[in-house]
Amino acid sequence: MFEQSLILDYLFFIFFFCEYLNYVLLFQIHFEIIRMSDTILIIGACGQIGTELTQKLRDIYGSEQVIASDIREGSPEQMSAGPFEILDATDKDGILQIVKKYNVSQVYLMAAMLSATAEKYPHKAWELNMTSLLGVLDLAKEKHIKQVYWPSSIASFGPTSPKVNTPQQTVMEPSTVYGISKLAGEHWCNYYHDKYGVDVRSIRYPGIISWKTKPGGGTTDYAVDIYFQAVENTSYECFLSENTRLPMMYMQDAVNATIQLMQADASTIKTRTSYNLAAISFTPEEIAAEIQKHIPEFEISYKTDFRQAIADSWPQVIDDSQARADWNWNHEFDLSLMTKDMLENLS
Ligand code: SER
Repeated sequence: MFEQSLILDYLFFIFFFCEYLNYVLLFQIHFEIIRMSDTILIIGACGQIGTELTQKLRDIYGSEQVIASDIREGSPEQMSAGPFEILDATDKDGILQIVKKYNVSQVYLMAAMLSATAEKYPHKAWELNMTSLLGVLDLAKEKHIKQVYWPSSIASFGPTSPKVNTPQQTVMEPSTVYGISKLAGEHWCNYYHDKYGVDVRSIRYPGIISWKTKPGGGTTDYAVDIYFQAVENTSYECFLSENTRLPMMYMQDAVNATIQLMQADASTIKTRTSYNLAAISFTPEEIAAEIQKHIPEFEISYKTDFRQAIADSWPQVIDDSQARADWNWNHEFDLSLMTKDMLENLS
């Protein structure tokens, strides 16, 4: 009798356990279908990050689900890889038309004027960086779209912020036009989330290094140009001084982080201004030494310009422990792995 009841208990346990597994599996499949049914619009898809983000999102969601857009046409390869629209990021009505045409649910707003160019055209930079963001945030507030991604930058910190292990929350007094626009944008994101429930997510990118598309008009651009010049000319004249340490990241890590943040459960997102994100920090002298391990004849010289002051106002090493804790961010590429991959792809 006792044994029979034990067997029955055991069978009940197995039954309920299987039911539980079934439920968990169904829930996961359901969640996955909802996520994969998203249609994504990328604004600024032909830029440095936009190009690779578009490719990765198309691999995940399917080419037809990811609409690339930019103010100008991209490479023939990009134009033929899936839907493409010419779009001015500051044209809210134009964005709305495309949102309606494709039934877009998520927007990645990647169009921006970077730090060095923004110092030359302050008003244009403010207009592009702010009008585009407010337009997209309004579309989300008006429920035309469900989710927004908008990049901020290490430039939102300033000379009075701690330079090493710069915390998520600290003194932020940017001294560049680009930094002012990024810090203001972060607070608009937070405001739209708090006031209107807009699901907007953001990362403070460090300098991003890539070989497919070059950046344009940034202060961290030297860390991309140096690889191109090393392969083409075995020499590079750097516009920052040899000891200027800045936070940097390889493109694959940046793209993975961006998508990981957008796919994270909303309950895990504790920061609605923008997340600190870090991978590597190095100086021009250190990156040159790493390149010399592969190209021993490579030579670097230094001739600083106005970008030195911009770099000097930024952090050297970022503390990104909150991103790591909230949505499990982890980088893969260090300086040596990145250098190997860059040189292999450029040679
Ligand atoms: N890479 C940017 C720049 O140099 C910083 O976010 O402007």
